[in-house]
Amino acid sequence: MDRSEKHVFVIASCLMLVFMSAVVYSVVGLGIGLPTCNTSVQPFTQGSLVERSPGRYEVQYVARMWAFEPATIEVPAGSTLDIYLTSVDVVHGFEVLGTNLNLMAVPGAVNNMQLTLKEPGEYRIICHEYCGIMHQNMNAVIKVTRS
Ligand code: CUA
Repeated sequence: MDRSEKHVFVIASCLMLVFMSAVVYSVVGLGIGLPTCNTSVQPFTQGSLVERSPGRYEVQYVARMWAFEPATIEVPAGSTLDIYLTSVDVVHGFEVLGTNLNLMAVPGAVNNMQLTLKEPGEYRIICHEYCGIMHQNMNAVIKVTRS
C-alpha cells in the first residue's frame, strides 16, 4: 500500500465512523425511531384500536385500495401509539403528516413503529406510494383530544 492508498483508506474509514455516529445519534439522541418489519407477526385483515394501558394504544392499520382501516381514531393528547401496518392488496405508503412516522404497507408483512402525539389536533395520514387511480384520495385521520 502506498501513501495515497493509505490516505484514501483513512478518509473512507473516518467517513464510515461519521455516518455510523449520525445514525446512532438520531436513534438515541433525537429519539427518531426506525421502522421494524415483523416477519413473525401474522398479517391481519381487519383494522383495530386497543387501549393496552392508560395512554398506551395498539393500532392495527389495514391498507387496501383505496382506504385505510380504521379511517378515524381518537386518542387523548400525550398518548403513545404502537402502530402495526399491513396491506391486503398492493404496496401502499403510510405517512402521518406533521410527524416523522413514515411506513410502507406491504402485502404479507407487518411493519411497526411507535408514535407519541403530545399536541391536540387532527393528524392526517396519507398514502405516498402510487397504488391506482384513487391513490390521491387514500387517507385517514388521527384525532388527538385534550387530555
Ligand atoms: Cu394507497 Cu397510494
